[in-house]
Amino acid sequence: MCFVRYKNTLMFRFTVWYIVSLLAVVLLIGIMMTGTVSYFLFKNTKQEMEAIQYKLQIASQEDKVNWQETLDELLYPDHANYFIEINDSTGKTVARSRGWEKDFNNEIQKTQRKWFKGLLWDDQDGLFFVDKKSWSQKNGQKGQMHIAVQLSNIENLLILIVKVLGLTTVVGALIGSFLIYHLTRRNMRPLLAITDAVDNMKHFPNLSKRIPVPEGPQELTNLSSTFNTMLQELERQFEREKGFIADASHELRTPLTALRGNLKLLKRRGKDNPEIFEKSIASMDEEGLRMQRLISQLLELARSDHVQTKKIKVNVATVIQDAVEETWQDSNGISLTCEVDERIFVLGDIDQLRQVTVILLENAKKYTNTGGSVKIFAQQKGDHVEVSVQDSGIGIPEEDIPKIFNRFYRVDKARSRKTGGTGLGLSIAKQLVELHNGAIDVQSVEGKGSIFTVYLTSASTSQ
Ligand SMILES: Nc1ncnc2c1ncn2[C@@H]1O[C@H](COP(=O)(O)OP(=O)(O)OP(=O)(O)O)[C@@H](O)[C@H]1O
Ligand SMILES: [Mg+2]
Repeated sequence: MCFVRYKNTLMFRFTVWYIVSLLAVVLLIGIMMTGTVSYFLFKNTKQEMEAIQYKLQIASQEDKVNWQETLDELLYPDHANYFIEINDSTGKTVARSRGWEKDFNNEIQKTQRKWFKGLLWDDQDGLFFVDKKSWSQKNGQKGQMHIAVQLSNIENLLILIVKVLGLTTVVGALIGSFLIYHLTRRNMRPLLAITDAVDNMKHFPNLSKRIPVPEGPQELTNLSSTFNTMLQELERQFEREKGFIADASHELRTPLTALRGNLKLLKRRGKDNPEIFEKSIASMDEEGLRMQRLISQLLELARSDHVQTKKIKVNVATVIQDAVEETWQDSNGISLTCEVDERIFVLGDIDQLRQVTVILLENAKKYTNTGGSVKIFAQQKGDHVEVSVQDSGIGIPEEDIPKIFNRFYRVDKARSRKTGGTGLGLSIAKQLVELHNGAIDVQSVEGKGSIFTVYLTSASTSQ
């Protein structure tokens, strides 16, 4: 079981790959080396043997040949590994070299294995060359010379080469495997650390923890930093969600408390007091509406967090017109002017873009006193479109400007409550605009008014 798991590790695979490649390389080098060395050594020996045969044939042409003397002169001391037997035409041995002997008449042919022409091997003498040549004298005598050359030197050299290569392979495989195992293990440490970190998180979720970033190798440095960035992002997201849930429950508790308060009042004094009855019912209706609006806004936020926008070519004038119709049925004594070029188009989702415009128009109306004015205008600037909602309302204090796009943030809590605000409108608008790869910003002067601008990608101007 443990071995099966070990077999699947990179360390094991690298070690096996290393040993297999080492063996293949050594085998190749071995074959090439022994092949080349043997070829040249055998070739040399054969040439030498042929030279001796030739000298013997020349000698045989003399009138009277002393074979024994000739053999001794030719073979000793340099060619002691040669055995030569001179026979006459009847097959009788005339002369024979000293030292190493080969019985040419026994049945060597049966045990010999022919490797290539003339090269033989038997258990007793190892590798040797054999050859046979005829000789003839001027006086008409004829015969044959048998020649055998023992190749034990070459054989020993080849065995030595094979042994050295074998030993090198074994030592190389041992040292190499050891090094590879430890190097891989060392380089894998960050990976093991990541695995451990993730494993720990399974048991004790702690997103604030970070894994150590190794200095190298680069791939693992990148992996560790990417993993830490992901943890950081997850932690931020988690904190945001936690905050959102806390805020949402807090916001829902407020209208619920008011509802229950009114219910208690009704229970105690509602029956006998028609005035209280009327007031409580109206207040409960208002709180109910507030909760309904809050819940639909929360749902909208949650949905646009995951929703993918279907982007099509949308006419900005149409979007603005729809939004105005939705928000300006009752003008509250606030004048509205629109300056929109009908030929401006953007890429986006028509419903979401209308919703953004509605949010901005509602705010402009809500935070502008009677008699004030609101202006909405859209203009094409290069490859993008700017849609602005300007009001002459109460404005936003400078220190609050960076916070108004946060969920549930309201500048004047008392006023917003009176006007029914939940503080979610602008965060929904921002989220929707960002889904369109756009941006939203605000410029405002307290007491004078504000201008909210949405930047969107243009979808070419229609002619
Ligand atoms: N045009 C504006 N003029 C002045 N203040 C504004 C304007 N628009 C937004 N604000 C301020 O920013 C805050 C956040 O606005 P947002 O639209 O997110 O929430 P809201 O209007 O209070 O509630 P709702 O979620 O119902 O829209 C508001 O409470 C208000 O204080
Ligand atoms: Mg609002």
